[in-house]
Amino acid sequence: MAVLGIESTAHTASVGIVDDGARVLGLASSMHRPTHGGIHPREAANHHVDVLPGLVAQALEQARLAPRELDAVAFAQGPGLGPCLRAGATVARMLSLAWRRPLVPVNHCVAHVEIARALSGLNDPILLYASGGNTQVIAYARGRYRVLGETLDVGIGNFLDKLWIGFGGKFPGGPELEKEALTGRELHPLPYSVHGMDVSFSGMLTATLALWAHGAPRADLAYSVEVTAYAMLTEITERALAHHRGAAVVLGGGVACNERLRGMVRAMVEGRGGTMFAPPRALCVDNGAMIAWTGLLAHGVGLSVPVGGSAVEPRQRTDRVATPWRARATGAPVPADRAP
Ligand code: ATP
Ligand code: FE2
Repeated sequence: MAVLGIESTAHTASVGIVDDGARVLGLASSMHRPTHGGIHPREAANHHVDVLPGLVAQALEQARLAPRELDAVAFAQGPGLGPCLRAGATVARMLSLAWRRPLVPVNHCVAHVEIARALSGLNDPILLYASGGNTQVIAYARGRYRVLGETLDVGIGNFLDKLWIGFGGKFPGGPELEKEALTGRELHPLPYSVHGMDVSFSGMLTATLALWAHGAPRADLAYSVEVTAYAMLTEITERALAHHRGAAVVLGGGVACNERLRGMVRAMVEGRGGTMFAPPRALCVDNGAMIAWTGLLAHGVGLSVPVGGSAVEPRQRTDRVATPWRARATGAPVPADRAP
């Protein structure tokens, strides 16, 4: 079986093709990089419209597959920026009609979990999903992925990007801050904002920009921000782990590319006798392969939608979508489709 998946929730347009062993047969991506400031949804959507047809052709070529050899077309239904989601969904609908293949909607956050779970071989991990727009600690229970804790304001990646732009740099800031932090020496005390299982970053953003305005070196600030913010994420992940039946953690989202975050979470998990897994970077950031893989799982239990019922859902929550393939795999009963 092979499924083609389209990702277009934010700045990245990507097309992936995977088979039923979660092998990535083709993956072609293009990231919209604004010349200044953050992402403008319409400009990003225009970029996606321009590049998606070429990315579909590239992914098919890499996979050495003809459209008739595909079993379904999956697309990211939400959450994300409306215009960007609609660009990907429109291409997916068109391909589904032209190729006469089922159209499978996929939740973007669930896709980050599923690709990490498939690659790690860990059946029931806690997921720390740290990306631009999202920061969530997620675990599976009774038919759905549940959000155990999350950011109360901006996603961690958006926070890092805003900070870097405040320092005079360009989007995306996370990878640049990571390099800068390597030479930082002095740890500045910054607001450490953990509220039970939730975190927030806006106080740290204000405090760091104030220190920068008073002449603190950029490398020290980058170092202090990474240590403080990643300690917050490690703390809520550890608390989730303490209440979970397993002892495994997987990472997902673009910020999961960060070596310091990986190292801190790994030390915490291994200190508790557990296992930590982070996917290769190309599959941590937004990518079509994770949409294809989750689409394949959903297609396997008969989930598809007619084109007329395939509206995008910019605010779709992780815990509002049913994941019946998981219930089947673990033998747990599939609950009626009720709100958590
Ligand atoms: P989502 O829709 O899931 O919120 P996203 O649109 O933010 O995703 P991703 O590709 O998952 O997209 O993540 C991008 C974010 O990851 C950006 O904020 C970027 O700065 C951050 N990032 C990428 N690499 C690193 C790194 N090495 N260290 C820290 N942050 C990073
Ligand atoms: Fe993402």
